[in-house]
Amino acid sequence: MENLRILIVDDEETIRSLIKNILKSENYGVKTTDTAESALAIIKEEYFDLIILDVNLPGDSGIDIMPDISHFAPLTPVIVITGYAIINDAVKAMKYGAFDYIKKPFKSKELLITIEKALKWKSIIDENSDLKQEISNKYNYRGIIGKSKKIKDIITTIKQVSDTDVNILITGESGTGKDLVAKALHYSGIRKEHPFVPINCSSLPDNLLESELFGYQKGAFTGAYRNKDGLFKTANNGTIFLDEIGDMPMNLQAKILKVLDSGEFIPLGSTRIIKTNARIISATNQDLKDRIENNLFREDLFYRINVVNLAISPLRERKEDIVVLIDYFLEMNAVKFKKKIKGITQNSLDTLMRYSWPGNVRELENVLESSYALNTGDIIDIKNLPDSLFKFNPNSSIDIIPINRSLKSTINHYEKKYIVELIRFCKGNVSKAAKIACIARQNMHLKLNQHKIDAREFRE
Ligand SMILES: Nc1ncnc2c1ncn2[C@@H]1O[C@H](COP(=O)(O)OP(=O)(O)O)[C@@H](O)[C@H]1O
Ligand SMILES: [Mg+2]
Repeated sequence: MENLRILIVDDEETIRSLIKNILKSENYGVKTTDTAESALAIIKEEYFDLIILDVNLPGDSGIDIMPDISHFAPLTPVIVITGYAIINDAVKAMKYGAFDYIKKPFKSKELLITIEKALKWKSIIDENSDLKQEISNKYNYRGIIGKSKKIKDIITTIKQVSDTDVNILITGESGTGKDLVAKALHYSGIRKEHPFVPINCSSLPDNLLESELFGYQKGAFTGAYRNKDGLFKTANNGTIFLDEIGDMPMNLQAKILKVLDSGEFIPLGSTRIIKTNARIISATNQDLKDRIENNLFREDLFYRINVVNLAISPLRERKEDIVVLIDYFLEMNAVKFKKKIKGITQNSLDTLMRYSWPGNVRELENVLESSYALNTGDIIDIKNLPDSLFKFNPNSSIDIIPINRSLKSTINHYEKKYIVELIRFCKGNVSKAAKIACIARQNMHLKLNQHKIDAREFRE
């Protein structure tokens, strides 16, 4: 088992060497480290068959880095160690995809059994994923999956600009992968050893956003009990990711522009000038040109942040990606739910291909996750898919006919649409509607009841 490599992350030297000795005696290859941050740095560079992760660590906790671990080592099982039998931590870790947990103090036998279970699981996954592996390698660039020309072009541009310092604006509807692309830009570039600092400009009130970005001096305002570094400083030499920049208030936009022009800023309540050379990546799902016209976004700032634009198309305009994304997410879910589902039925695939995906890849990911969770067999069937996929898009002028429904439910669906329109036309007058439909008034009332339509709502 010399070829199997295990990473141990624990801040207590005694625990580290205890586990290490147990594993060495079983001939596993072992590496140890003592913080979440160093563990991540190692995981980004090296491959492990298993990670044993303490939850309680100085700095970031084990749970904090679970999402990053599953990003950089998606197929590596993680066994979490929780102290003092804190069951909450264990549950949280499992939610984030940990394979299993053990409580401190533990017996070496207990640890070994859990490890063997995890490795057994890993080998099943590996065995099954030859083809998947091919897909993940071929169509996977730092977690960005896709085989459409549109995604390939995005990846090409990422490679071209990641080592430069040009400011980049990522645009695209919600759920198209803007965060993912921002991370890929940072981690594939020369700044990857320095921090990647994301901030969501729409989730904080104006003054809080400002103090986050620029930092403050103790006493600058009520509640400023100590000095605090701004994110522009934290991101020095690294990347600051201004997410949802379209929502940034105008007065703050002016201040950001100044930082971009001078590479300098002053924390609130301070007089000291601070230099930053953070690279700026911004993202928005808004139409900034439109916001500029409405005086909601500064044109000069727009040109500053938009030296290169990465425009990610909505999923419905690159449907070829759906197939590879499905494979990818099935593989992810296999690890997460610790059960193997081979694939999806042709009917289900047709349904997923036909749907318009207003929530883009995020929605697809969620749909597959819930289908996976609900499924009891080894293939995802149409009955595992959420109803929302079969609903007709009320705003679409083209009605896509779902062919995988029964004739009765299809007729039912169109009958309801027809009656709603009719009642609307008749302004809620049931007798008039019945006359046009050539049925008795009582029958129209029956239909209204059956479809849960309230005619009164259409009266003026
Ligand atoms: N091309 C892709 N390949 C794999 N996962 C993707 C892709 N695009 C989006 N995702 C996933 O979809 C979810 C939403 O992506 P995110 O980057 O947060 O979108 P946005 O920031 O545009 O709203 C995330 O879980 C992300 O990993
Ligand atoms: Mg986002």
